[in-house]
Amino acid sequence: MPDTSLNLGRTEFGDSANAGNVLTTAEAEALLNDWVKNDRLKLHMRQVAQLMKAWAGEKLNLPEEEQHKWYLAGLLHDADWDQWPEEHCRRIIEELERRQLDPAIIRAIASHGPRYFGVEPRSDMDKMLYAFDELSGFTHAYSLMRPEAYKGMEVKGVKKRLKDKTFAAQVSRDDIADASERAGVPVEELIQFVISHQTDQP
Ligand SMILES: [Fe+2]
Ligand SMILES: [Fe+2]
Repeated sequence: MPDTSLNLGRTEFGDSANAGNVLTTAEAEALLNDWVKNDRLKLHMRQVAQLMKAWAGEKLNLPEEEQHKWYLAGLLHDADWDQWPEEHCRRIIEELERRQLDPAIIRAIASHGPRYFGVEPRSDMDKMLYAFDELSGFTHAYSLMRPEAYKGMEVKGVKKRLKDKTFAAQVSRDDIADASERAGVPVEELIQFVISHQTDQP
């Protein structure tokens, strides 16, 4: 039974008049540090942010301003999870609406867990945030049990752990498969992208 307590009850977010409005990296970092005290969660949010930016730039050749929007969606998607898990992700959405952020960023955050929030990923940004969220967390869990973390990690190693239902059991394999299908990107390609972009992470 999917948990419906986090359902947002709406599918449109922000105001189209605010298109192009962003936070600077410093403003976003300040919000992150203010709201999130858990270092592991911060690391997860930073990892997803890097992946989002890299995908927008390297795979989609989007301009710098667009890459920054993808970065912000990744960086802030779980901002309220640490202190207000029962309000995830309503609270950060309302905060970003109050700050009149570009609606594309807010909608991506609102659709990063369609089973929970009741918002279907629609844009590329929406779909890739959904795709990278669980998978990067899973890959990170795998890196923590490897002596050299991400170094030398192979796609097949990650896939083997995905098949092992006892490993990182809280990570939904169904969501990973669903997100990959919606994004139209094979899981193997997503895993490879995650591995090759995490070597510079602490
Ligand atoms: Fe989340
Ligand atoms: Fe997340």
